[in-house]
Amino acid sequence: SAAEKGGYDYFMLKEIAEQPKAVADTLLGRIDAAGSLTLDEVRISPSELREVDKVVIVACGTAFHAGLIAKYAIEHWTRIPCEVELASEFRYRDPILDGRSLVIAISQSGETMDTLMALRHAREQGSKVLAICNTNGSTIPRESDAVLYTHAGPEVAVASTKAFLTQLVACYLVALYLGQVRGTKWGDEIRAVIRDLSQISGEVERVLDTMEPVRALARSLADKNTVLFLGRHVGYPVALEGALKLKELAYMHAEGFAAGELKHGPIALIEEDVPVVVVVPSPRGRSVLHDKIVSNIQEIRARGARTIVIAEEGDEAVVPYADHLIWIPATPTLLQPMVATVPLQVFACELATARGNEVDQPRNLAKSVTVE
Ligand code: G6P
Repeated sequence: SAAEKGGYDYFMLKEIAEQPKAVADTLLGRIDAAGSLTLDEVRISPSELREVDKVVIVACGTAFHAGLIAKYAIEHWTRIPCEVELASEFRYRDPILDGRSLVIAISQSGETMDTLMALRHAREQGSKVLAICNTNGSTIPRESDAVLYTHAGPEVAVASTKAFLTQLVACYLVALYLGQVRGTKWGDEIRAVIRDLSQISGEVERVLDTMEPVRALARSLADKNTVLFLGRHVGYPVALEGALKLKELAYMHAEGFAAGELKHGPIALIEEDVPVVVVVPSPRGRSVLHDKIVSNIQEIRARGARTIVIAEEGDEAVVPYADHLIWIPATPTLLQPMVATVPLQVFACELATARGNEVDQPRNLAKSVTVE
């Protein structure tokens, strides 16, 4: 009913709008006054966490993209090797796991069959499993050694939005907590990141306030057949997620690529007026990557692409090569996905509407895939 949708036309719009609160709620009560993490709810002892020599993330769909992003944060902050794998692949391989492996199963619903089977597979091999889940008491957390709940609230629209942002927050909390219990040399950085994380909710709010041009752009592209997405570093999984959203909702051919792979294939797809969304890393910090992406944008535009550039406010270098600019607030590199994903959700949702598609219940898809 309209009341359930809180005045929005679709649950998806409501859930996109709820993201600042979802992010804040997922941090709530997990950081103490001194700026340290208090994750006692993760019932894996600090001594066991100190022994962990490998992290393996398993998930499906949008949750898998959260895992891909988390890998960058986990390896950077903890120096523990981290693998990310689709649960449906992992469960049918012969993965190398033992008692020192920490397996993180990410699932909004807590009922995805492949993710459940993957975690059973891991536990049989003596690994500890930590679930990151949005649904209290669901099967995946019940069968895991520990759970860190995301506090996104119920997500009804099939295409995941607010759960994704909170999955990122939860993964980052786990990464920082691992760093904290292991006493990594990143102590000061950990506290700084925690401070930055607590500002993300406000930044997402600001992004949401500036989405009207993104909606207008989406409507203008309603008759296109293909949209490509390019990103690099943590922007690469963001590109994959932008493409997935567009497939799910707009039923358009959409593909995400690592920008560094452009010359290994994707550039052959560039032709006159093909929309290409580019997620640009911050010009501060890792400026090498920024400069490389700017030359990618130049290259594809020279071949006729219609460039849609998502860049940090004040990033003047991209302006001459962007047909459309979507500004996002400046954040530390690892946190950028939390703001960069939001315009892509809005973009896909608006395109679906413009194409007359059912936004909350896309054809052939289910909210939770409980069969193989
Ligand atoms: C389905 C949903 C996706 C979701 C995926 C994983 O494909 O349509 O939105 O990302 O399942 O679901 P989970 O509940 O395990 O996060």
